[in-house]
Amino acid sequence: MNALDRQRQIYLEGASGRLPRIPVDADRLEQAARARMSQQAAAYVIGGAGRGATIDRNRAAFDPFPIVPRMLRDVSGRDLRISLFSRTLPAPLLLAPIGVLEMAHPEADTAVGRAAANLGIPFIFSNQASVPMEQVAAVMADAPRWFQLYWSKSDELIASFVGRAETCGCEAIVLTLDTTLLGWRTQDLDLAHLPFLRGMGIAQYTSDPVFQRLLDEPDPGPMPRRIITTDAIRTLIQSTRRYPGPGFFGKLRSGRPLAAVRKFVNIYSNPALTWDHLSYLRNLTRLPILLKGILHPDDARKALDYGMDGLIVSNHGGRQVDGAISTLEALPGVVKAVGGRVPVLLDGGVRGGADAFKALALGATAVCLGRPYVYGLALAGAAGVREVLLNFLADFELTMALAGCRSVAEISETCLYKR
Ligand SMILES: Cc1cc2nc3c(=O)[nH]c(=O)nc-3n(C[C@H](O)[C@H](O)[C@H](O)COP(=O)(O)O)c2cc1C
Repeated sequence: MNALDRQRQIYLEGASGRLPRIPVDADRLEQAARARMSQQAAAYVIGGAGRGATIDRNRAAFDPFPIVPRMLRDVSGRDLRISLFSRTLPAPLLLAPIGVLEMAHPEADTAVGRAAANLGIPFIFSNQASVPMEQVAAVMADAPRWFQLYWSKSDELIASFVGRAETCGCEAIVLTLDTTLLGWRTQDLDLAHLPFLRGMGIAQYTSDPVFQRLLDEPDPGPMPRRIITTDAIRTLIQSTRRYPGPGFFGKLRSGRPLAAVRKFVNIYSNPALTWDHLSYLRNLTRLPILLKGILHPDDARKALDYGMDGLIVSNHGGRQVDGAISTLEALPGVVKAVGGRVPVLLDGGVRGGADAFKALALGATAVCLGRPYVYGLALAGAAGVREVLLNFLADFELTMALAGCRSVAEISETCLYKR
């Protein structure tokens, strides 16, 4: 559906008295999703690290780059397509990996996979997904998907995740570097709520044969003492329900649901990660590898030295370092350092077509949409995600055309005002 069809659809429905069920305006979309989600889910999805300064900075960074529209350029034909790692994509847009989507909607990753596949927008499966990657891939036919990896303490588990990603048709591996430790997430801390401890967002693990084998091995260190309260019992019931396999009481007696949570906590990330680890991943797969979380030009250059195939300029949506550089501020330095040798993607605060346009004008190959698609998911499942994407694409197409560009290739720094 092109931008004009989308616009027409919304206005015609309005003429019959129907308003969009998914707010078009980005702030209203967030407000509506906040109202729909539980307090814990809203804190997890919307919240960030510390005082939220990085979230604000990601947004504010788009303001100092006004677009200068050019006139009389015949924009009746508009081409949003880009080519990325030997695929032609319908637009310079991907869906960022977002964990624990079951907090937003019970169909979680499956719903997002359906919506993304319907429009041919690549979905980056999260390492912390609520649904195993094979199940999501199964609803996506041959639509594009990538897999995002966190570097676990078990090399064997990393190999297993990457092997499964290859088998279920993922076309690239995104290694997220900025979360070797969990940031100081004030909103979650105030609610004392970490979804993983309730067995949420660990489906890639519990569905994994290597992880299942690791569960049989005793964990070093003492078992954390839990005080028995009604909440503790509720947590136990929830983790047991979420654990794969039939028979609630059998699963409960096996002790595996809680053991899985404990094992996950012990191995999910590795703060000892260094550049030298990358060769292990490079030797594991022939798929393109992108590093997510790069913000410094020197790190960008180093990534190329280590044979990486792409970068995602990201600060994890302001969830890790409070007061960090915004992604749009970091982008030009990274683009310059890379010098066109590999694609550079950007996420963080991308809320509308103009944001994507500005990022592309500053040298990004594509942008990743994050929280907004989760808001669509929270409000209306797969249909909600699809509407958010349709609106985003229409907004981008109109911005591009009204700025005087017929295709993504025509978007360049000259489209922006230079002080
Ligand atoms: C609720 C939530 C969960 C996330 N989970 C992951 C994840 O599992 N892996 C990852 O690499 N990034 C994760 N991210 C970061 C996103 O991939 C992306 O960098 C971020 O959402 C971009 O910021 P924005 O949503 O404000 O635009 C998560 C972000 C949010 C909001």
